Amino acid sequence: MSIDTQLKQFKDAFNAELANVSNAETLEVVRVKYLGRKSAFQDILRNLKDMNDEERREAGQAANAVKEAMQAAIESKEAELERCRYDHLATDERVDISLPGFAWPKGHLHMTTRAIRDIQRIFERLGFTRVRYPEVEWEHYAFDVLRMGTNHPARDNWETYFIDAPVHEKFGRMILTPHTTNGDVREMERGELPIRTMNINKTYRRQSDVSHVPMFHQFEGLLVDRDVSVTHLKGLFEHFAKEFFGPDREIRLRPHHFRFTEPSFEIDVSCGLCAGEGCRMCKQGWLELGGAGMLHPDVLRAGGVDPDEYTALAFGWGVERTASMRSGINIADIRVMYKNDIRFLEQF
Ligand code: DAH
Repeated sequence: MSIDTQLKQFKDAFNAELANVSNAETLEVVRVKYLGRKSAFQDILRNLKDMNDEERREAGQAANAVKEAMQAAIESKEAELERCRYDHLATDERVDISLPGFAWPKGHLHMTTRAIRDIQRIFERLGFTRVRYPEVEWEHYAFDVLRMGTNHPARDNWETYFIDAPVHEKFGRMILTPHTTNGDVREMERGELPIRTMNINKTYRRQSDVSHVPMFHQFEGLLVDRDVSVTHLKGLFEHFAKEFFGPDREIRLRPHHFRFTEPSFEIDVSCGLCAGEGCRMCKQGWLELGGAGMLHPDVLRAGGVDPDEYTALAFGWGVERTASMRSGINIADIRVMYKNDIRFLEQF
């Protein structure tokens, strides 16, 4: 076969393959196959050595022309492919910058945090200041000064967590505070009177069921002044209930017993679901909010306050419970509040 024929066949085969190329990868495969070092083109060139000078020059020129033509064809294919890339973008994937943007999902504060802020604000407007007292506490402040001595049975109600730490000779064992009343004597010990404080904090009890989580929050109000009485207590709660739950909610005080208050009360708020009629949510129209009372004179003395000159009211209860008693909220199992399930969280 003449070298011309060989070259022609080679070029035809190249053209046929090139026509089918539709992307840069196959183009490179074709380039290597026809123009690479191991290409059949090299075999054709090898025949040149058997020719005389005249033939070799002509065949060499013909071979060069074919090679240059193939190189040019590959370059123009390359340019074509590049153009297609942008053509494609210009039709299907072009960004229309006039379209409205995506709205990214927005989070919100946890219902406990919102309740804490609301409670804090309501009492701040009445002149209370938010304070914080330790979560890791001594038995002394959480129990002893509140008239719950070491062997007092009332202590059992608090299901306390004890810290594995040396016992302090005056303050006793170290604990996770089971209530925010631990701050009352600490606050009085600071020696500045009168007092109007809110201690809002994490509290801990060894309990876990539909209405208890081991870590929860309480808020404790403390008002120490001359002539503080139960009427102030009642006024405060009436104000609080209407601000927090809504203007049509009512409160009532029920006599109760706490070691550190005398008299002691439990405060109920009228049910938001049945408006006092009685329903599945409430007991005969009322929901239990929390405890309150006038601090016992011994507690005042423990804080260095003279009970003949000053009286004090205190109240404290759970934030989670209070938050879940807002109208329209009915949480079957309080533990879901801390399971971090977005389906629950985004509802509140
Ligand atoms: N500390 C009590 C508890 O955790 C609640 C309580 C009752 C707080 C009466 C008070 C109070 O300040 O006066 O159950």
